[in-house]
Amino acid sequence: MKKVCIVGASGKLGKYMVQHCLDKGYEVVGVCRPESVEKLAEFGDNIRIVPGRTNDENTIAQAVKGCDGVLTVLVPWGVKGYSSGTAQAVLNNAADGARLIFSCGWHITKDGKDTYSWFFKTMVSAFGAVARLFRVVDIQDQIRATNLIFGSKKLWTVVRGSDLEEGPSEGLPVWSEHVGDDEIAHNRTRRIDFALFMVHALTNDELVHKAPAIASRVKQ
Ligand SMILES: NC(=O)c1ccc[n+]([C@@H]2O[C@H](COP(=O)([O-])OP(=O)(O)OC[C@H]3O[C@@H](n4cnc5c(N)ncnc54)[C@H](OP(=O)(O)O)[C@@H]3O)[C@@H](O)[C@H]2O)c1
Repeated sequence: MKKVCIVGASGKLGKYMVQHCLDKGYEVVGVCRPESVEKLAEFGDNIRIVPGRTNDENTIAQAVKGCDGVLTVLVPWGVKGYSSGTAQAVLNNAADGARLIFSCGWHITKDGKDTYSWFFKTMVSAFGAVARLFRVVDIQDQIRATNLIFGSKKLWTVVRGSDLEEGPSEGLPVWSEHVGDDEIAHNRTRRIDFALFMVHALTNDELVHKAPAIASRVKQ
């Protein structure tokens, strides 16, 4: 792995991923909205920034050129297909041999074999309905986005994050094929470690065409 593109680099998860990639000595290209470029000022000349919306084909085509890895923060902002547009732009433009890692939450299921608590299902459904009502977020579009990814022959991994918290690293999270497994039942991950797992997935072939559900290795 030499050159990595981070799509959604200026958010909380994105900035942690930038730092982890720089720590590994990767060349980094970051994509973020033009109004967010200044949020990446702390990285100075250590990264190249391509300003643009993450669902814009031209922006993504320019950014992923020559990259052997692409880390994409999938967020379902608005009600105009931002998440599915972002996934499609990355799938369309990344090189066939590039490792493509996408982030989402536990609510995404690849094979329908995840088991969710009553509380989790109620929270997702209530949040989804209210967010859609106010046209802020469309969770259904994140589902469309991951379905596009699951149907692709490219070398993808969809990393499903648990509830997130800030704080120093607790190490590489553990993962499981399915939500509901004991290993990840504590449903808690430091955001810095979510980013660590995303970057780790770039070089872990065992994770190709998988949707690992992750949680902190510290169970508490
Ligand atoms: N939050 C959680 O508890 C949680 C739990 C599990 C999984 N996840 C997953 O973790 C990933 C990161 O989530 P996060 O909550 O930590 O957020 P985050 O890293 O801060 O990322 C938010 C992203 O959304 C962009 N954004 C914000 N407002 C926008 C708008 N109006 N239009 C377009 N883009 C906009 C931000 O770009 P700008 O910098 O330009 O604003 C940034 O790239 C997501 O894939 C999420 O599904 C989150």
